[in-house]
Amino acid sequence: MKILAFAATNSKNSINSQLVQFASTKFTNATVEFADLNHYEMPIFSIDREIENGIPQLALDFAEKIDRADLILISFAEHNGTYTVAFKNIFDWISRIPGRKAFGEKSIFAMATSTGIRGGKGVLETAIKRFPFNGGNIIADFSLPKFNDNFSIENGITNNEILEEFNLKIEEIKQHFEATPKLILENK
Ligand SMILES: Cc1cc2nc3c(=O)[nH]c(=O)nc-3n(C[C@H](O)[C@H](O)[C@H](O)COP(=O)(O)O)c2cc1C
Repeated sequence: MKILAFAATNSKNSINSQLVQFASTKFTNATVEFADLNHYEMPIFSIDREIENGIPQLALDFAEKIDRADLILISFAEHNGTYTVAFKNIFDWISRIPGRKAFGEKSIFAMATSTGIRGGKGVLETAIKRFPFNGGNIIADFSLPKFNDNFSIENGITNNEILEEFNLKIEEIKQHFEATPKLILENK
């Protein structure tokens, strides 16, 4: 299984990046590719720029990464209750590529964390509602509240109750893939 993993933020010391990396360690039989949104910084989407210059190559590159994956792990940072600008800009650009849905009908494990008590639930709920319209099939979701109290770099999620919930989500995802064998079409 090929996994694309990224934190939906551009901060260098991202707590969501730590969470998504922790999640990726649970898929021992997969190859995991991490994407850093800083490598996909583009002009702010505008319809005028699109008409004038077309879709930036970086948006096409990001879409290609999505297309190569069987499963996408995303951990959303929450800025003012919603997506970070860094993520939304990529989302808007890839949603404009002709002939595709932004998330390529891929299975997604959508996570979020913040240092607050809601653990980025606002942005997570926004993604859960919206992604199906953009070809993003969220098969499980998880939010980690109070990151600084419940996570350590050495041990990952440190709160046993929350860890149990997280592990159940991981099992759900693994079962989803076991129950949905990939159709391999043979060229004759
Ligand atoms: C502009 C801005 C807005 C923020 N808004 C929220 C918010 O709405 N809810 C929240 O829980 N945290 C909010 N935060 C705090 C972020 O959750 C915190 O910066 C977190 O580290 C972001 O995730 P990241 O480290 O993965 O980038 C905000 C931070 C910034 C800089």
